[in-house]
Parts: sequence; structure tokens; C-alpha cells
Amino acid sequence: MTTPSLLSAAARSDIQGLVASGYGHLPWASYLFFQIQNPERARTWLEDRIPEVTTAAPWPRGPDGERIKPREAVNVALSAPGLKALKVPTSVICTFSPEFQERMAHPDRAAKLGDDGESHPSGWELDGYSNPRIHGALILHGATEEGTEELVQRQLEAMDRASEALTLVPDGRQEGTIWAGHVEPFGFRDGIAQPRVQGFHGEGVPTGEFVLGYRNHYGIIPPSPVVPGRQDPGGILPLSENPHQAESTLRDLGRNGSYLVYRKLEQDVAGFWRFMVQEAGRRGGEDEPELALRIASLCVGRWPGGAPLELAPHEDDPSLSDADDFLYGSDPEGRRCPLGSHVRRTNPRDVIHPYGPEASLRMSRAHRMLRRGRIYGRPLFDPQRLKGPVSEAGPLLRDLQDDGESRGLHFLSVEAEIAGQFEFIQQSWCNNPRFNGLHDTPDPIIGRMPGPSDPPGTPSAPGRTGHTPGVMSFPRGPVQDRTAPLPHFVTTRGGAYLFLPSLRALHWLAD
Ligand code: HEM
Repeated sequence: MTTPSLLSAAARSDIQGLVASGYGHLPWASYLFFQIQNPERARTWLEDRIPEVTTAAPWPRGPDGERIKPREAVNVALSAPGLKALKVPTSVICTFSPEFQERMAHPDRAAKLGDDGESHPSGWELDGYSNPRIHGALILHGATEEGTEELVQRQLEAMDRASEALTLVPDGRQEGTIWAGHVEPFGFRDGIAQPRVQGFHGEGVPTGEFVLGYRNHYGIIPPSPVVPGRQDPGGILPLSENPHQAESTLRDLGRNGSYLVYRKLEQDVAGFWRFMVQEAGRRGGEDEPELALRIASLCVGRWPGGAPLELAPHEDDPSLSDADDFLYGSDPEGRRCPLGSHVRRTNPRDVIHPYGPEASLRMSRAHRMLRRGRIYGRPLFDPQRLKGPVSEAGPLLRDLQDDGESRGLHFLSVEAEIAGQFEFIQQSWCNNPRFNGLHDTPDPIIGRMPGPSDPPGTPSAPGRTGHTPGVMSFPRGPVQDRTAPLPHFVTTRGGAYLFLPSLRALHWLAD
């Protein structure tokens, strides 16, 4: 059976807008994490939200032919405990993926994700062991700060009107934004590489990698939560088309929905640059600031301005700041862009040793995600200064002091399989110190660094005693240049696995 690649208008109106768009024109975001107290009233509240939910329907064109983009966006997502609190039958909840049911904070999942030490869920601000469980999130985006505040107030009033049907969890209101130049707190342009999705763009990665109910990269429809026909007497949900679900009365609760991963990631900006300056110092020479910038860019795989090292190995190139159409095949050893860099392991493209280019590309395409996050906190320094002359960046980086404020990334990603996409990338590609034939080299930005409490020889040197610290390594001449042991620059402060239902699924849940 062949699936037409472009989604129908009806399907797009059923999919939440956050799947199709990162709302780049709506820089301000507010995430309201709530807990359901009263299921009946919460269902009424949910029903009232449905007309407000922004869908993936194409934006209309104005008389000038330009797309008229929404001035604000409302999306709603629910967690497994949230479905339970809404009184969704256990027989339905158990058809969601195991990782979604277990939650991100589950000890097994925390171990997979490398959430230990400072990142352990026992110390989280949201949905950890000492926080109330998150049942759902309202994801609000606006064009201006004031407009977003108004939207938030409207939603908080609607929650109040629902008379304690649901309440925000402590710290349940989180704000995010996009900084000028789309830079993240370390100072690098972010949000550049995004997969194109067949259903939205006509070509690219199969729709089923991101939206439930469609064929994925392997040509199969991934598992989707279902409802027995008798629990949907009104036929709100579509029949399951999955050939593996032989019982023809099953209704597809997942179709046109997606999973949404949320992670609050705090960034130690001063620590990051202190490390880079020290590494430059260890290598000596007169161009230390330039070297510090270069080592940091080798860790990311792109220059602060965004140009990929693969295309611009010697210096930042503003003409390449949005470049995403490139491969690594002519650089199998990572001489231009290190194999261990953040971008090369979160999307290795056509080079995954020992596989050939075709197999590597197939594997990479099976592990993509749509990133939808925002930055929180205030910049520690003006990131634009990293793009100027190195003489300016030098003193800035050398003298950077922590100000004690918290800043980082509200990481959000949309996918059809949390275990096969987000978790796989984090565990098998970023935390794995032996990724792509490397040694002792986890992802320098988000990888889990082996610690002294690890059993001897863990994880990269069987038979050795003591732990092997994680370093960043890159080829220099005939040898691998290795940094000092990497500290953690990023700490997990909270996280949740959520379900972003279709509009029809929202109707069923509110019914
Ligand atoms: C605070 C934490 C993080 C920071 C500072 C960060 C920073 C960046 C930067 C600067 C880029 C390059 C710009 C771009 O291509 O958009 C990038 C790319 C990317 N990051 Fe992250 N990131 C973080 C967390 C994560 C996490 C948790 C994941 C997933 C597990 C992830 C997955 C990706 C992916 C898939 C790409 C695109 C790679 C490509 O297609 O070439 N990032 N990140």
C-alpha cells in the first residue's frame, strides 16, 4: 500500500500546530504544567479548550499572497498520570508506549538518559521524585511578551472558572523565548537543522516518524494507542488502520497525535567558557581566545554564527548560518567536524561506522525529531560579541563570571516513538563514549560523563580499574587531541513524556 505523501486538509486540521511548526514568528512561550483534581470538571475544561487549539491546517493567504500567520498559539498535551486522572480506562492507557507510561523520571529511564548526580530526578523542579506529578501542559506561544501574558492570564482565568478542576503544580508556570539571532545561552545559533516532513512538505522524512497512524521510515505504522470500539460508541475516533491490530473494531486514539518530550536543561555558561579558555591555554600560543572559540565550536559542530564546521572548517561564515543540506561522507574521520561533536552525534547523517553511506543515512533518518524548544533566563553575556572580532571575544570569555542566575533550554521534541527517537539519540549516540568508533568521548554538550561511582571499567574500558572520565577528542595530525575531563555543562532540572492528542482524540478524552 502506498501512502500519499502530503497530508489531507482534514488530517492537518486534526493535528496540533506544534507538530507542523515551531512557531518561529511567535518567540514568546509559556508552559503551564497542571494537575487534574476533578476529572468531570477537567473534561469540561478540556472541551472548552478544543476550539482554541491551534491546528496544523495551512495558514490562509492574504490578498497579497502572503501567509497570514496566527498571532498566538494554544496547544495541549497530557501525561500518562494525566490520562489516569481523567479516568481514561487502564485498558486504554496500557496501549500507550511503555516509556510514556513509565514517565521520564522512572529509575530505569533516568539510568538510560544519564540523569544521575545533579541531574537525578530526586533533585528536579518538575515531575521528579519530590514534586507532584505533572498531568498535562498548556503550551502557549505569542508574538509579543504582553500578548503572551494576556494569553496566559486568559488561560489561568479559564482554569479558575473550572473551579479547581485543575491547578498548576509548584513552579508549573515556565517562560521561554527566542533570543536575538536564535542563539542559545552558550552563544551558538540554534534551531537550524530540522527534518522536512513528507506530510507537510511533500518530501523528506516519512510522516509516521512524527505523527502517529502513518508509515514510518521502516514502512510500518508504529504502535499507536487504541480504544476498544465499545468505549467509543459515538465513533469519535477513526478505526485503526494498523494491519497488526487485527481486531477491526479498535479505534485509533493516537492517529494524528504525537509524543512530546519536555526537558528543562540548565546551562552552566560561565563553566562552559572557563573550560574552553583553559583548554586553549593548555595548548598555548598567542591566539588563545581564537582557540577557545574554535574548541567550543568543535564541541558543537557549528560556529557561533551557525555555519557548520563541515562546510566552513576554518572560520565562521555568515553565508552558511542556516546551512543544513550537507553530508559528512568526505570527512569520515571528523577532521573538519569531529565525530564526537553535538551535531554529528545527534544526526550523524551518512557516516555511522562501520556502515556504508546508504545504511548510515537510513539509520540517521530513523532517529530524527522535531525540536520545538525555547530559551529561559537572561543572557550571561551578549552572544552577538562572539560573532565579532576575536579581539573583542577574548577578554569577554576570559573574564566571564557566573551571576548565580539560572538559564538554559526548555527542550521540546515531537516524535512518534520516544524510545526510538529522543531516548535513542540521548542514550546510544550522546551518552555512549564509544559512539562512532570513539573512545571515552560522550557528547560534550549533553552527554552523561562517567563518574567515580561507576563500576570499574565503566563504560568504555572493560578490564580497567577505576572509571574513565569523558573527554572531547578531535583528530589533530596523526593523533587524537583529547581535552581534560569534561565537566557537566548541562543539568536536567525536570522533564516529562507527554501525548499531544489529535483534535478528535481531544474530543474523545473530553467526552
Ligand atoms: C542545553 C542543551 C542543548 C544545547 C545547548 C544544544 C545546542 C545545539 C546547537 C547549538 C545546535 C546546532 C544548531 C542546529 O542545528 O539547530 C544543536 C543541534 C541539534 N541538537 Fe542540540 N542542544 C541541546 C540539547 C539537545 C538535546 C537534549 C537533544 C536530543 C537528545 C538535541 C538534539 C539536537 C539535534 C537533533 C540537532 C540537529 C543536528 C543536525 O541535524 O545537524 N540537543 N543543538
